[in-house]
Amino acid sequence: MTSSQPPQQARPNSEPGRQNLDPHIDRYAARTAGMTASEIRALFAVASRPEVVSLAGGMPNLAALPLESLSHQMAEIVAQDGLTALQYGSAQGIPTLREQICEVMAMEGITAHPDDVVVTVGSQMGLDMVTRLFCDPGDVVIAEGPSYVGALGSFAAYQAQVVHVAMDDDGLVPDNLREALSRAREQGRRVKCLYTIPNFHNPAGVTLSPERRAEIVEICAEHDVLIIEDNPYGLLGFDGQTYPSLRSMAPENVVYLGSFSKTFASGLRVGWVLAPHAVREKLVLAAESATLCPPTLNQLVVSKYLATHDWKGQIKTFRENYRERRDAMLSALEQHMPAGCTWTRPEGGFYVWVTVPEGVDTKAMLPRAVTARVAYASGTGFYADGFGSRQMRLSYCYPTPERIREGVRRLAGVLESEMELMRTFGSVTTRTVSGPQFPSPDTA
Ligand SMILES: Cc1ncc(COP(=O)(O)O)c(C=O)c1O
Repeated sequence: MTSSQPPQQARPNSEPGRQNLDPHIDRYAARTAGMTASEIRALFAVASRPEVVSLAGGMPNLAALPLESLSHQMAEIVAQDGLTALQYGSAQGIPTLREQICEVMAMEGITAHPDDVVVTVGSQMGLDMVTRLFCDPGDVVIAEGPSYVGALGSFAAYQAQVVHVAMDDDGLVPDNLREALSRAREQGRRVKCLYTIPNFHNPAGVTLSPERRAEIVEICAEHDVLIIEDNPYGLLGFDGQTYPSLRSMAPENVVYLGSFSKTFASGLRVGWVLAPHAVREKLVLAAESATLCPPTLNQLVVSKYLATHDWKGQIKTFRENYRERRDAMLSALEQHMPAGCTWTRPEGGFYVWVTVPEGVDTKAMLPRAVTARVAYASGTGFYADGFGSRQMRLSYCYPTPERIREGVRRLAGVLESEMELMRTFGSVTTRTVSGPQFPSPDTA
């Protein structure tokens, strides 16, 4: 039979074998096909019950903030400067705050001009803008494997293809990066950027060694690949140590993303991009089309906080709190985890990356863990290509040390019974493949 009907386009959002009840299904742009909710989001309602110890979330522990004096300051801003604070502002951000951001970055060896700083609604917006500026559909972004779930979401949204490069305890391995770049070139694929989290990696917990930094900067320059350096945790080294930023080594080839989410208050949604001077203009245009301007009130709150509080002392307090929690997690892992499990030992930041024995599938195990009143983020969400089924991310940032110890004890029990079943029946789970996901507050 011949037909004059146009060929049917594959629906970007329909899942085979599943009736889709969304009446807008044929309207979505093709790029939405890669948008799926993070797996923990489905379990979030259960996982956030008070009896469940959540080691899944990346929420900063804000209990140490001086709330009373902050509330006075906020009231003061509105009373004294309300007509500015509640008005639109510049797309690039308030000049005084941009100057202060340069002082914050100086703590990690970055010399920057406030003109090259663009204030964003969290560094997540920076990721979105940078991807929008640099990635056409099909362009390759190289990222560590595993990588930050929110970055993978941005890359998927712009249909960039992620190629993961393996890390070891010293972070991204330069030889693996070289290999990935050569392979992409042989395949005729265009590599646009390297996306990297050099300090206290989310989710892997490792830090790029100082020796490797210069080498990675050099490799990227040789291959004409832009570096996106994402650094929300750099000031949260437990011994107060900081590392030379990639940006300080190659100002013209690094777009640097910073944030006040982990060092002050994530709910204010204030981050920034420090761009090579030539990129700044386009970045401001992208920011303008995304939000017109970042929230003026929130910027003033951050600016006043930096001007009047002992913010370095506050970061020290955060570091001490997180160090205590990290210690609690590492000692509980040591005490309870079954033989065959391994994990990273972070020197800062929020996360431990755990590898479980062959045959255990952390995504399939998650509902059983939640039933046992503990939640974690399974590894598959941190890869764009379905890897990570033997990994999980444990966050120690939010729960108390007692809850962390109890959570790890419960998790170890779930793993023991999973492994016992495996010994009895062989593998108890089927391997699941997932793509990039979009973060919820519980997986960020
Ligand atoms: C590596 C990394 N980049 C970016 C973000 C987003 O942070 P923000 O709150 O500044 O948007 C996070 C949040 O967890 C993160 O871990």
